[in-house]
Amino acid sequence: MDGETPALSFSCVIHPLRPKEDVARKYPFLARVLPVSLIHFCSRFWPPLYLSRIRGVRSAATGKEVEGVLLACPFTARRMLTLPPRTVYAKLVQTGRLAERLGARLLGLLAFTSSVGDGGVTVSRQLDVPVTTGRSLTVATVIEALEVLAQARRLSLDSVTVAVLGATGSIGRACALCLAPSVGHIVLIGLREGRLAQVAHEVSSVGKGQVHASTQIEAIREADLVVSATNAIGPLIQPGHLKERAVIYDVAIPSDVSPQVSRERKDVMVIAGGVMDVPGEVDFGFDFGLPPGKAYACMAETMVLALEERYESYSLGKQIQVEKVHEIARLAHKHGFRLTELSAIRSI
Ligand SMILES: NC(=O)c1ccc[n+]([C@@H]2O[C@H](COP(=O)([O-])OP(=O)(O)OC[C@H]3O[C@@H](n4cnc5c(N)ncnc54)[C@H](OP(=O)(O)O)[C@@H]3O)[C@@H](O)[C@H]2O)c1
Repeated sequence: MDGETPALSFSCVIHPLRPKEDVARKYPFLARVLPVSLIHFCSRFWPPLYLSRIRGVRSAATGKEVEGVLLACPFTARRMLTLPPRTVYAKLVQTGRLAERLGARLLGLLAFTSSVGDGGVTVSRQLDVPVTTGRSLTVATVIEALEVLAQARRLSLDSVTVAVLGATGSIGRACALCLAPSVGHIVLIGLREGRLAQVAHEVSSVGKGQVHASTQIEAIREADLVVSATNAIGPLIQPGHLKERAVIYDVAIPSDVSPQVSRERKDVMVIAGGVMDVPGEVDFGFDFGLPPGKAYACMAETMVLALEERYESYSLGKQIQVEKVHEIARLAHKHGFRLTELSAIRSI
């Protein structure tokens, strides 16, 4: 870029996941003295935070470089699930206004900030900057990862059973719809029978294999490959739930998988999913928990749109469109974003 600093184009909003550790990244002293319960409580009154400037995202196709800012909505995941949505929306709008004041042209609502209520719609109505949740690219990583995993296990997708935990959710439903044309047997698992039946109907109508639905997590025991995408705040998948040699691709943040699974089930592979390698020499200026050069797919979607100069509310609301999953996957690939090698992310 001949020493020229690119203008700010995008912003990514994250939030604390592990209250003590995450608060320590910004306020080491406070993290030492505050108990977790007080961190949850205080998060309600804390203003949105500027964390860092993101530099060095460079397209492998065009050489164009974009810069962004990393902002934090102070609510923990637990707070976002338990507070009334309008309280969470207000804090997200405040965070969005901070992004606007800084000059961002696109706002990425990441992880739980996009799961709350209507998936960004209300927040976006109160802002001038377009809003994306990054979920379309998250779904694309799931589809690609399952293909890679099936190949590595010498399995053909049309002969395997794939379970989708959190199938009534935004990411879970879209994953099932994208997988249905190629997978032999899909097991959909959710909490609400009625909504689950609706999703099962949609998935059956685009698929060629069998589709079953269950409200019991034990149903994942049938699956060779498990996609996990719930918004639960504690781990759901336990060692006894899994088939021998099952692979779990877990995109949930925080994780849906109990740490006991890796300890007690050496035959099972657990992958922290939805992670991508970013093209260029990206410097996030802040440690948000991933190894250098890697981003969550939802962050990556915001960057891809900035590289394309498509400042639009791309993935907004709870319904993800399958066409957009394919389109954003193609654009990400064009600019050099790659699914992180699965062996590298196994233990993140
Ligand atoms: N890796 C990434 O780049 C990335 C990007 C975006 C999001 N995420 C993460 O992905 C996850 C899903 O996001 P989303 O936007 O799809 O959320 P969502 O639309 O809120 O869906 C979550 C779904 O999980 C279901 N659920 C909750 N507890 C469950 C349980 N015990 N058993 C079965 N289903 C359960 C919920 O059911 P009800 O509707 O009945 O409550 C809901 O349908 C979140 O953890 C989010 O943080 C990751």
